Amino acid sequence: MGFQKIQTTLAALCLSLAATAHGAGDPAAGKALSLACSACHGMDGATGLDPTYPNLAGQNERYLLRQMQFIQSNKRPILLMTGQLNGKSEQDLANLAAYYASLPGKIGQAGGGDEAIAQARAIYRGGILERRVPACMACHSPSGGGNAPAGFPRLRGQPTAYTEMALKAFREGERRTDEDYGGMMRDAALGLTDKEISLLADYLLGLMPADHASASAIGHAGSAE
Ligand code: HEC
Ligand code: HEC
Repeated sequence: MGFQKIQTTLAALCLSLAATAHGAGDPAAGKALSLACSACHGMDGATGLDPTYPNLAGQNERYLLRQMQFIQSNKRPILLMTGQLNGKSEQDLANLAAYYASLPGKIGQAGGGDEAIAQARAIYRGGILERRVPACMACHSPSGGGNAPAGFPRLRGQPTAYTEMALKAFREGERRTDEDYGGMMRDAALGLTDKEISLLADYLLGLMPADHASASAIGHAGSAE
């Protein structure tokens, strides 16, 4: 009886380990699957056909894989992507995630003036206490690079129209892909006004990687990207 239990436990353990190993994506295999995607997300994964189409290049693997699973299962319905992920195996999705994560991320330039940037930076770094908006950088890192091991997405360099759309979708509770994370992103967006969302989106477009020359202005980001 005891032995059987140990056997069962071991079998379960091996299964979960195998799942982990299996989950590692192969960028070259992902590239081979990416031609159809490039029609909308760009050949470099960072030049969307429309400003509401997100950059995939440089986004972390864990986040990309989760979103593709949601899109495939229609938990995150994207009309334009209907059929795009049909018939793709878990390994195909992992390969696509690895491919896009391996591409260099885009760096954009904010269009707002000093005052707009300062206002957005204050929210990004300190939140808005009276409306219970948390500091975005706690999860998305001071330089907007996200947190790859946790699967928190990179935000910098995204087209502003996409970021605005995403924040509003969370705020209105239309996007619920943060369920595994306790709804933390819906909570974060709840207290933001449209104006603040547009300031944040512009600020995020122009954020620089922490190892960039202007890192001193951003502050030491530790191991965050
Ligand atoms: C016809 C256009 C189109 C094609 C083709 C397309 N996508 Fe998309 N994709 C979109 C749009 C639009 C969104 C964002 C929509 C939204 O959030 O409402 C999106 C979102 C995504 C996201 C979520 C990104 C994020 O930051 O959350 C991933 C991942 C993604 N696409 C991967 C792919 C992959 C992989 C392929 C190819 C197999 C592909 N897409 C093909 C239009 C397209
Ligand atoms: C407690 C952690 C946490 C905080 C604080 C937080 N976020 Fe997020 N954010 C997340 C997670 C997790 C996701 C991914 C959710 C999912 O799986 O779809 C996310 C997703 C996003 C996305 C969508 C990215 C994409 O490519 O679609 C945007 C934009 C965003 N956050 C902006 C912000 C802003 C702006 C703030 C500050 C007002 C903020 N976040 C605060 C954890 C956080």
